[in-house]
Amino acid sequence: MLFDHELAWINEKIYNEIYKNSISNTADFWEYHIQSISWHKTPYDIFDHKTKSWLSGGVANVCYNCVDRHAEQTPNKPAIVWHGDEKGVRREISYKELQRKIVEISSLLLSKGIKKGDVVGIHMPMTPDAVASMLACARIGAIHLVVFAGFSANSLAYRLEMSNAKVLITSAETRRGGKPIKIKENCQEAIAIMTNKPELIVIDEVNLFNNLKLNEHLELCTDKDDLFVLYTSGSSGKPKGIIHSSLQYILYAATTFKFVFNIDPHDIYFCTSDIGWITGHSYITYAPLFHGLTIVMFEGTPIYPTADRYWEIIERERVSVFYTAPTALRSLQTFDENFVKKHDLSSLKVLGSVGEPINKKAWEWYFNVVGNRHCPIVDTWWQTETGGIVLAPLLDINNQKPCIAGKPFFGIKTDIVNTDSKRVTQPMEEGRLIIENNWPGMCRSVLYECEYSQKSTSKNQTCKNIFLNQYFEDNKFITGDGALYDEDFDIKIIGRLDDVINISGHRLSTIEIEEAIYKVNTVKDCAVVAIDHKIKGQTPFAFVVKNLVDECEDELKKSIIESIRKYIGPIAKPDYIVFVEDLPKTRSGKIVRQLLREIVMNREYDITTISSVHNKEILLSIVQTVSDISVN
Ligand code: WTA
Repeated sequence: MLFDHELAWINEKIYNEIYKNSISNTADFWEYHIQSISWHKTPYDIFDHKTKSWLSGGVANVCYNCVDRHAEQTPNKPAIVWHGDEKGVRREISYKELQRKIVEISSLLLSKGIKKGDVVGIHMPMTPDAVASMLACARIGAIHLVVFAGFSANSLAYRLEMSNAKVLITSAETRRGGKPIKIKENCQEAIAIMTNKPELIVIDEVNLFNNLKLNEHLELCTDKDDLFVLYTSGSSGKPKGIIHSSLQYILYAATTFKFVFNIDPHDIYFCTSDIGWITGHSYITYAPLFHGLTIVMFEGTPIYPTADRYWEIIERERVSVFYTAPTALRSLQTFDENFVKKHDLSSLKVLGSVGEPINKKAWEWYFNVVGNRHCPIVDTWWQTETGGIVLAPLLDINNQKPCIAGKPFFGIKTDIVNTDSKRVTQPMEEGRLIIENNWPGMCRSVLYECEYSQKSTSKNQTCKNIFLNQYFEDNKFITGDGALYDEDFDIKIIGRLDDVINISGHRLSTIEIEEAIYKVNTVKDCAVVAIDHKIKGQTPFAFVVKNLVDECEDELKKSIIESIRKYIGPIAKPDYIVFVEDLPKTRSGKIVRQLLREIVMNREYDITTISSVHNKEILLSIVQTVSDISVN
C-alpha cells in the first residue's frame, strides 16, 4: 500500500503517485494515517459524504496524544526547551514535567467548575506555561481561546465576551526586547469593561497550586467535540472566531507536519510564531508534541540584545527544523551577515516559511546564508480556517524554486479559477485559489456575534449560514487568495484579493482599522488600504476626511493612532495617515479602495472609468496629495 510511505523525502514521482491515489481514495489515505493517533475508540467511518463529517465514532483525547503517551514512553525527554528574553536564560521541561504542569492547571480549572465545552481564555507570552494551559484545556475538553499578547484590552474583551469565556489565564509578567510587558494589567483592563466577567487566573503567581488536590481526569472527546476557537480577520470590521474540532484537527495538523518537514522523532524543532496565531497552535503546540519532538520556544525578539538570537538558539539547541515568517527574515537580512555566519548552523535540515508571500531576496538569503545551500525551503501556504498546511513544495534540494508554495497536500484538491469561475489552465494566468473537496483540518464553524455557549439550534444555524456563504460557492472553499501556476504547474501565491491586510504575518482587516479610526469623533470619513512595505510585507495607508476643516492635523493623527492602539493593538498602526477633502465612492456609496491603493502604490490607474465629475476631482486632488509622499 502506497500510503505507508514512511520516508518523507518524497520525490516528484512518489508524490504524484501518492497524490493521485489520495484524491481518488481520500478515505483510504486518512484511514492509514489515523493509526498514528492513540484511540480510545477507533472511528467506524473515515468520511461520510452525505453529512460531510470525518472520523465518526472516534473517541480520543488530544492532550493524551500530545503529552501523556510520551510521558509514559520517554518521560525524561525534553518536551520544551525555552529561551527567555535575556540571553542565557534557558529552561528545559521534560515530557513528565510538562504532564505534571498540565495536570496542575487542568485540576485548577476543574476546581473552578470548568467543564467540557466551556471556553477558557489564554492571554500569555511565549512560555511553556502557555502551551501547558492550552493542553490543560484539551485534557478536560474545555475550549481554549488564545488571544495574541499584543492585542489591546478592548480586542481581548471583545473576543472573550463573544465566546463567553468563563476563565482567563495570564502571566504575572513578561519581558520583550528588554522591556516589561503589562500583560496582567491588560487582562484586568479587559475584564473591567466586560459584562460577563471571566475569572482571572495568574498562572505564575506563587501559591496558586498549593493545597490543590490533583485530578488526573482526561476527558474522552468524540468527533463532535471542539478543541479551540481562535479569532482572525476577514472582510468585515469584526474579527471572527474560527472553531476547530479536536480529532479531525489533530489528524490533519500532525500528518501535514510529518510529511511537509520530513519529521523524525529526533528532530529538534524551532518555530518562531506566537501561540496567539494558528501557526502557534498547529505547529508549535499540537503537531510537534503529538510526534513527541523536542520543541524550542523563544519569548523574546530576534534582535534583542543582538540580532543573532535565532541563530544563537539554533546553534545551542542543535535545531534541525526551523520555521519562521518572511517578515522576520526581511528584518534580519538588514543586519550584518556575520550575525548568522558566526554560528554553527550545520544541524539544520529543513527551513520553513509561513504567513505571507516570501519575496525572492528574502528567500535567497534564507537559502544561501541561513541554510548554507544545503537545506530545502518549504514555503507553506495555509490559513487559520484550514487548520494546517495546504500547499508546500517538495523537500527536494536539487529542485528549489524561490517563492513557489508548490503542491497541494495529499487528499486536498486545489484549483485556480478566473473571474468567470472557469478553471485556469495556462501557466502565469492569475486567478482565485479554491479548494474543491473536504479535508479533516477544515474548521468546523465560525463565531461572529453569536455567542458560543448559547448555541441553540437556530443561533447555530445562523452562524453556519454566514459561514457557508462566506467561504463556499458551489461547495467550493474560497480561500480569498490570488494565485497562478508556474511553468511546472506548481502554485505561486500572489496575495489576498479581499480586504485582509497582512502586517508582518499578522492578519487584520482594513475595515477593522477603519472602524477604530471612526471612533475618533472628529473623523468624518476614512479609507484604509494595504500597501507594500519592505520589512512588514504590508502596512496600512489611511485616508482621512476631517469633520472640522481647521482641526490640527498632528493632533488628529495622534488621536487616530491612539484609537487604533486602544481598539486593536500597536501592530495595526498605519505608517501613513493623509488628510483629504473627500473620498471617491461608487453610486451606492462604496469607497473605491482599489483605486486608492493603485494611486498610492504608483501603479497604473485609470480614472476615465469613474463616472462622476465629483469623484474625478476628488481623485485628482488625492493624486496631488500623495505625490509628495514617498512610499518605501
Ligand atoms: C497568507 C497563517 C503566501 C495568505 C498560516 C493567507 C501566505 C493568510 C502564506 C492566512 C504563504 C499564509 N505564502 N501567503 N506561504 N501563508 N499566507 O489565517 O494570504 O493568519 O490567506 O494563517 O496568510 O493567514 P492566517
